[in-house]
Amino acid sequence: MARVETTSSRPYHLVIFGASGFTGQFVVEEVARTISEGPKGNLKWAVAGRSKQKLEKVLEQAAGVLSKPELRSEVDIIVADVGEPDSLAAMCKQAVIVLNCVGPYRFYGEPVVKACVENGAHHIDISGEPQFLEGMQLNYNSEAAEKGVYIIGSCGFDSIPADMGVIYTRDQFKGTLTAVESFLTVSAGSDGGCIHDGTWQSAVYGFADGHKLQSLRRKFNHKPLPAVGSKLKRRGTLFFSNEIQQYTVPFMGSDPSVVKRSQRFLVEEHQATPVQYGAYAGIGGIGSVIKLMFAGMMFWFLVKFSFGRNLLIKHPEFFSFGLFSKAGPSRKQMEGSSFQFALYGEGYSEGQDPSQGKPNSKIRTLVQGPECGYVATPIAMVQAALTILNEPADLPKAGGVYTPGAAFAKTTLIDRLNKHGIQFLSALTNTHNNNWEVSDCR
Ligand SMILES: NC(=O)c1ccc[n+]([C@@H]2O[C@H](COP(=O)([O-])OP(=O)(O)OC[C@H]3O[C@@H](n4cnc5c(N)ncnc54)[C@H](OP(=O)(O)O)[C@@H]3O)[C@@H](O)[C@H]2O)c1
Repeated sequence: MARVETTSSRPYHLVIFGASGFTGQFVVEEVARTISEGPKGNLKWAVAGRSKQKLEKVLEQAAGVLSKPELRSEVDIIVADVGEPDSLAAMCKQAVIVLNCVGPYRFYGEPVVKACVENGAHHIDISGEPQFLEGMQLNYNSEAAEKGVYIIGSCGFDSIPADMGVIYTRDQFKGTLTAVESFLTVSAGSDGGCIHDGTWQSAVYGFADGHKLQSLRRKFNHKPLPAVGSKLKRRGTLFFSNEIQQYTVPFMGSDPSVVKRSQRFLVEEHQATPVQYGAYAGIGGIGSVIKLMFAGMMFWFLVKFSFGRNLLIKHPEFFSFGLFSKAGPSRKQMEGSSFQFALYGEGYSEGQDPSQGKPNSKIRTLVQGPECGYVATPIAMVQAALTILNEPADLPKAGGVYTPGAAFAKTTLIDRLNKHGIQFLSALTNTHNNNWEVSDCR
């Protein structure tokens, strides 16, 4: 049985590890903004990392952004290094939850998960790396269950909007939802936008190691999920989407793998009907298609060789046509950026047998919010942590390694996200007319 301790036996509800990283600094600001949402209106927290000076600077900067005289007197600093297991153990012993922002997770993640499991701290990460996420499930699920610890991965933009979006869509659907396709569009303001190098590195090494993921998956020895309803057809590698009115490609991130793992959990633990899922991302007009083809070909070629990977890591801006950069986006760029996930679901209305005939009902969910990487991700990560602290009775009964959908399906995480600017909204239609009735689902 898992236990979420929120009393004074551990000095901190939250410890942000990697607080000095590009993403970590925004997680610090988000925690500082939400302390009144902690248990009994209070949140005790600390920042952790390998450099005390950098952490001091991050607290100073966050105080400035939040117009506070200072944060240092209310927030402690813990020095911990992934390469020093004793420092990780000491950090984990002091935390109810570790918010882990140290990536790429394939290189730095496992020692932190291990230390959390061994020392009874729950763990939340923002990894978008299926190999790490599934590897942790394979290696630590049993021990985490024994120790009553929740290890919850992919709690950032990867993959809370998609995973919780599918669950929300299922909950709003009147009948049996059997398939969902999501279409992501990202908008930047007049100043443009980009993604920090940390995510580029995770992507480069992730693609290079793709074959290892296949052999890791075989070790689970999973039976295929039962197919219910019409089989969802895979779209092509490039197509014009009528749903979002732009050219679209399959989404290459962790969402499909995370959603599938959540669905497996819900089928096996709650006898739910599995929802088939396909994830796509809009890329824009014909000019973007040409750029993406060119960048994609270079990427696929270079990522296979170590010299190529070194080149990609050294020059993110050049090889991604400015989509990734070592400096990351400016605050102004972040303010002008936003995302929208449109999830199109289909299924069988109440009283219809999903094993007979075609789906007769449709639903559309929009999940929309601010800039993905450094505004929406900290919001999602911090709200996931606050959900653990405030709603322990609604989490799975046993500890373990979970996806967001598996951990939070019965909680109010979506309501919390709605209040913090990541909005979930559904509309229904039947298959004969495509007029979406927006008002009926909230
Ligand atoms: N899910 C999402 O949508 C999403 C969004 C944003 C980021 N991310 C992921 O978050 C991760 C971090 O990205 P980022 O852009 O913030 O990267 P980053 O700026 O490079 O930050 C990495 C952090 O890890 C710390 N670190 C590195 N080696 C360490 C060690 N041995 N011991 C302790 N700390 C160590 C760094 O500490 P120093 O400051 O001391 O160097 C820094 O704080 C990446 O995996 C990225 O993919 C995911």
